[in-house]
Amino acid sequence: MAESMKGLKRTHRCTELGNANIGETVTVMGWVQKSRNKGGIIFVDLRDRSGLLQLIFEEADCGNEHFAKAEKLRSEFVIAAVGKVEARSGAVNENLATGGIEIRVKELRILSEAQTPPFPIEADSKTKEELRLKYRFLDLRRPDIQSKLMLRSKVATKLRSVLAEEGFLEIETPILVKSTPEGARDYLVPSRVHQGKFYALPQSPQLFKQLLMCSGYDRYFQIAKCFRDEDLRADRQPEFTQIDMELSFVDVDDVLAVNEKLLKEVFKDAIDLDIQLPLPRMTWQEAMDRFGSDKPDTRFGMELKDVSDVVKGCGFGVFTSALENGGSVRGINAEGQGAMPRKKIDALVDFAKGFGAKGLAYMAINEDGTYKCSFAKFMTEDQLKELADAMNGKPGDLLLFAADKNKVVWDVLGNLRLELGRNLGLMDKSKFNFLWVTEFPLLEWDDDTQRFYAMHHPFTMPMDEDLDKLESDPGAVRAKAYDIVLNGTELGGGSVRIFQADVQEKMFEVLGFTKEQAQERFGFLLDAFKYGVPPHAGLAYGFDRLVMLMTGADSIREVIAFPKVKDASDLMINAPDVVDEIQLDELGIEISKVEETTEE
Ligand code: AMO
Ligand code: AMP
Repeated sequence: MAESMKGLKRTHRCTELGNANIGETVTVMGWVQKSRNKGGIIFVDLRDRSGLLQLIFEEADCGNEHFAKAEKLRSEFVIAAVGKVEARSGAVNENLATGGIEIRVKELRILSEAQTPPFPIEADSKTKEELRLKYRFLDLRRPDIQSKLMLRSKVATKLRSVLAEEGFLEIETPILVKSTPEGARDYLVPSRVHQGKFYALPQSPQLFKQLLMCSGYDRYFQIAKCFRDEDLRADRQPEFTQIDMELSFVDVDDVLAVNEKLLKEVFKDAIDLDIQLPLPRMTWQEAMDRFGSDKPDTRFGMELKDVSDVVKGCGFGVFTSALENGGSVRGINAEGQGAMPRKKIDALVDFAKGFGAKGLAYMAINEDGTYKCSFAKFMTEDQLKELADAMNGKPGDLLLFAADKNKVVWDVLGNLRLELGRNLGLMDKSKFNFLWVTEFPLLEWDDDTQRFYAMHHPFTMPMDEDLDKLESDPGAVRAKAYDIVLNGTELGGGSVRIFQADVQEKMFEVLGFTKEQAQERFGFLLDAFKYGVPPHAGLAYGFDRLVMLMTGADSIREVIAFPKVKDASDLMINAPDVVDEIQLDELGIEISKVEETTEE
């Protein structure tokens, strides 16, 4: 039966005790990690969020009533123990913060008994994630998850204090909004009062933070919940958290500078990492040309090389036809991989096809200088040598080439480079390579719908040098947009915003919005701009991604207390779920078709 803690007050968390407390009488409370009855002596490992502490029970100290209770203790019972701190009677446990001491218990109370949990509460659990997420309240007891969530809290505290020092105000924006144009699908919430109408959950506070600038708040930030109905991945959740900010009277350099300071202070405080400032910068064009990605992992080389000029006149139709169609031929050099077995090369070809490649041409340079090459018969010996030289190919190297439209070539080789980097262990886990990627294209052409889309969002400012091309050559306009990348993950992104009505109008025109459509969707922002708007810019980090990278976690699920799984469901609360007929009636909603959802 559960006892109360009446008359007791916890004096310490487990690992707040140490040699300095020897001789003190203390009261500790927590969960039983493990209990060992050695006949006459019982040892209990007590656990709380700080760590473990050994309790020792002997009848001579605690009397038979408390000793009998100690005999009943099982894993996950919640207890309170009063006793004296002593130097450990047995061997000192070097692995524990409290390994030199133990508590000789005088009084024990069982505050709550516990059933045997469906999996052991331990670090580095081998239990399947599905089961852990169903019992997330137990999973969250595991020390590795607890330390990640404690770090997450510490980071939030530090962020708030640095941003406050820099003059930012923390202001909340609404969750029931109208859809924001960020590109993903919205989560909709039906209105009861206005039947047939829907709120959207915010994909980001974008428009509200711009309005706050119009209202003179100057520097805003928020730790903001965002919702996007998009396919889940290791670094994507349908609801996630942004560290969102907006600043007035600034340009690109000002935003980057304040964020570099923020990153430096937060990483130092959280994981004792010294970041060298200023952080390196690379234009989007350079990132694509060198790494085939707008979020390059710069911890290793294997950079892309454009060999279009070298293969221009060769006899290999795959290469020449790609060039004739306005594409390019590029390659990467997997140094020292020339002896890769055919099977593995075939696997790389399949991998490349998964990213839209029609094929992958390869050339292994044998130790004797001859070639093993999938297109040897289409080229002269001299042409092959010229190509190998252009790739800095040495005996023992493996050269891989893709020929297609630039977009496909970048995507294929960029991903192949990462795959090889992973397989060959080229990504040094101890490195934290930050990179600003700047000068993104303003617009992206979509072949399917035959129109331009904003690469970041429709309020992003073109670069001053490119403003005049907005009408004549929209595809060539670069934007005042920037991403912060860490080890190949996009940590955050933002832009300087358009604040002139005429530029914004042109932008909407290019995007194919009529004046009426623009007014209907973003009228409140356009109206606000008519009453005095400061130049402004901002940025948002993915908070979950930030903590994931700081803790070395493989997925953001490990740093979110209650995450969702691949099909966007919550296995613990069983959401989404059906609702009562009455609730639907009130909303004026009728379910017309129910599609079978496929369970993962
Ligand atoms: P963006 O769409 O680039 O910009 O989002 C900013 C950052 O949020 C994180 N992020 C996500 N994290 C987890 N799960 C997701 N589904 C997810 N989607 C995005 C990423 C990303 O870099 N309003 C603009 C910012 C601005 O212009 O100021 C915005 O939302 O780390
Ligand atoms: P094929 O002429 O189709 O037999 O292809 C000859 C070689 O070129 C094979 O190794 C193919 O995998 C490769 N290949 C085919 N299409 C491409 C492409 N778009 N880019 C690079 N290599 C390709």
